[in-house]
Amino acid sequence: MITRREFLKNATLLTLGGLLGASLGKPIKVLAAEEVPHLPWPYEELDPEYVRKLGHLGYYALECGGGSFWAIMTALKEKVGYPYTLLPLPSVEEVQKAVEEHEHIQGMMQFGYGGAFGWGSLCGALNGSSNAIVMVTKNWDKIGKMLYRWYEVFPFPSEKSNELASKHQFLVKKYKSDKVLPRNVSHSVLCHVSVGKWCEISGYASGSPERSERCARLTGDVAAKAVELLNADLRGELDTVGKLTLSQTTADCRTCHYKGKNYEMGQFTRGFMQCESCHQDMRPHLDSVIRLKASETKPNELTNVTLAGGAAAAVTGVVAGLWAYSKKGGSKSD
Ligand code: HEC
Ligand code: HEC
Repeated sequence: MITRREFLKNATLLTLGGLLGASLGKPIKVLAAEEVPHLPWPYEELDPEYVRKLGHLGYYALECGGGSFWAIMTALKEKVGYPYTLLPLPSVEEVQKAVEEHEHIQGMMQFGYGGAFGWGSLCGALNGSSNAIVMVTKNWDKIGKMLYRWYEVFPFPSEKSNELASKHQFLVKKYKSDKVLPRNVSHSVLCHVSVGKWCEISGYASGSPERSERCARLTGDVAAKAVELLNADLRGELDTVGKLTLSQTTADCRTCHYKGKNYEMGQFTRGFMQCESCHQDMRPHLDSVIRLKASETKPNELTNVTLAGGAAAAVTGVVAGLWAYSKKGGSKSD
């Protein structure tokens, strides 16, 4: 851990070295004392269980977006020191005090609350964790996708979080609720869907202390998972901890619908979300897909890079699958 003082001392030595180097005709890069290093910043293995607790506490002061970001950054600040000391991060004690005294406190990524300014879009715990991820590794895109897919199919809140809360082992003194809360899978990264489906199965209103506590536990869970993935990335083991597997429907839809240049083939949309969580009746669409397939369109035009080789057969399979799927009125199982 490098303290700010040591850093300033090093910077001074560098400056002296720079002057010396210059006098010898050798330019030496001089770091200004307040220079902020480019990303990614150094990452060291963190304890996911500690981050889970920080995330839960962070939620109480900064909600899901601010809480998850604060949790990961604070664990790094405590372990690595500079440059994380450059960030405006309230200390654990300050946050605990603010929570106890109902004091207002403002933090980075706090706008992520309730799906960004309460809008119900991207879950704030994912939003805040994503910003932490992009700050510490070049593999941020891959890790982010793994985290989002995990979120779609994970039953929140985790068993661990339920247990920590019921045994009062989190870092807050007074709990919004210390009950073991119902768990469910939302099949969506959206706050609107995640909260809505949980309210539906639990019977708790969106403004209830239980729903709020559920999101506090979820914030800890998501930050902890992000750290697990970052740890694996650090050890070069990202591929062994998991593989990005889209839902079967999403994989099928993406045969035609993905970010691309061929408008007629369906490339006027993009994304990896679970399509079936919103699109269910595909029957009208199926007719035009079949017509499209029956038209002069060459099979290889209907397909794309991901389908190179055996492409025509694959599309036939997808159309058949789509047909079965539409008859079922949309499958929610995967
Ligand atoms: C074989 C290629 C193909 C597959 C697979 C496919 N689509 Fe499409 N889709 C198209 C094309 C081409 C259009 C544009 C023509 C049209 O509107 O019917 C389209 C249109 C749409 C539309 C726009 C309006 C409409 O007609 O409903 C939606 C929504 C849609 N697709 C969703 C999906 C979803 C969800 C899946 C997976 C369950 C899927 N598509 C699978 C080719 C495909
Ligand atoms: C959170 C809900 C949601 C999810 C998940 C979702 N869509 Fe959509 N999609 C919509 C809405 C809303 C529209 C606009 C209204 C419409 O056309 O039905 C739309 C429109 C579309 C269209 C028509 C063109 C356009 O962009 O307006 C296509 C094609 C489409 N979606 C495909 C997909 C595919 C493929 C997936 C999965 C990768 C997917 N959607 C996931 C909600 C969703």
